[in-house]
Amino acid sequence: MDIQEIKNRAEREIKSVQNIEELKKISQKYLGKKGEITLVLRSLKDWSEQEKKKNGKIVNQFKKKLLNDIRELEKKFQQEMPKDDTKEWIDITLPGKKNLIGHLHPITQVKREVEDIFERLGFSVVEGPEIETEKYNFDALNIPKDHPARDAWDTFWLKKPEKEKDRLLLRTHTSPVQIRYMEKHNPPLRIVAPGRAFRYEATDASHEINFYQIEGLMVDKEVSVANFKAIIGRFLEMFFKKSVKIRLRPSYFPFTEPSFEIDMSCLVCGGKGCSVCSQRGWLEMGGAGMVHPEVFKSAKLNPKNWQGFAFGLGLDRLTMMKYKIDDVRLLYSGDLRFLKQF
Ligand code: PHE
Repeated sequence: MDIQEIKNRAEREIKSVQNIEELKKISQKYLGKKGEITLVLRSLKDWSEQEKKKNGKIVNQFKKKLLNDIRELEKKFQQEMPKDDTKEWIDITLPGKKNLIGHLHPITQVKREVEDIFERLGFSVVEGPEIETEKYNFDALNIPKDHPARDAWDTFWLKKPEKEKDRLLLRTHTSPVQIRYMEKHNPPLRIVAPGRAFRYEATDASHEINFYQIEGLMVDKEVSVANFKAIIGRFLEMFFKKSVKIRLRPSYFPFTEPSFEIDMSCLVCGGKGCSVCSQRGWLEMGGAGMVHPEVFKSAKLNPKNWQGFAFGLGLDRLTMMKYKIDDVRLLYSGDLRFLKQF
């Protein structure tokens, strides 16, 4: 067995190896189970003492060196692999990238929470269109053309499409949903209708050109103001998670009679008076009243048979109270420094 010949050949082959497959073959050929060097080492026991001394050392040293070379080359080829982008690979040693997960807007969070509470109180959640007809937004709610109340709900009118009978506008409140729902469903009814409303306003800390409301409507044989007070009081307590005093202040809406403003005791100062409640100790959360007979008639229900209450709460107001936000414009600014706090 010519040890020197094997050694020279192996060294030559190792020098010209091109890729990992070739390297594996060489490794197998010399160091595998039946590899040439393995066989030489195995035959060592048949050699004379003299040969053993002379060759044994050479073979063992060469085996070590060959193993080392193979390992080095293997590393080199493995590092080069990524350049071959036809193969998919993943570098598990790279530091991870943090995924930025967004979250729901505070108004959406509050909207869902409010819906959830009303559902627990036995109300269904329904929705209506943001683009309304003049009929649903005004006429059917007992606000005929030229009624002075229309001034309080000035809005954005849209160009009337030819085929449309009514003029179109961006709804000024969620109250049209009352009519839409009563036209299609027979009492008894209990619904809330959250959604966006629009007004032609100069913006300031408490006014925006659009905002969110939640409309409520309960109709049955016998429904009273006391029922309304109980429901709204329970809702506010569940929403703010503390006991809340409420006050119904006489007011006017063409679609309710009698009508009220719903005030609640200021949670910031506990009713003593502070900047949030303009030193009044009370905050206005929305409007309400007993459904006007004309509204029942618009929806083809006989006012002699049915009674009901309706209310409209400001979702923006609820959000501002809950998180003590002092400017409504922040909610619509899209400013991440603000939004990331929720
Ligand atoms: N739609 C009224 C508003 O936007 C609120 C309201 C709703 C009042 C229902 C009474 C009954 O101002």
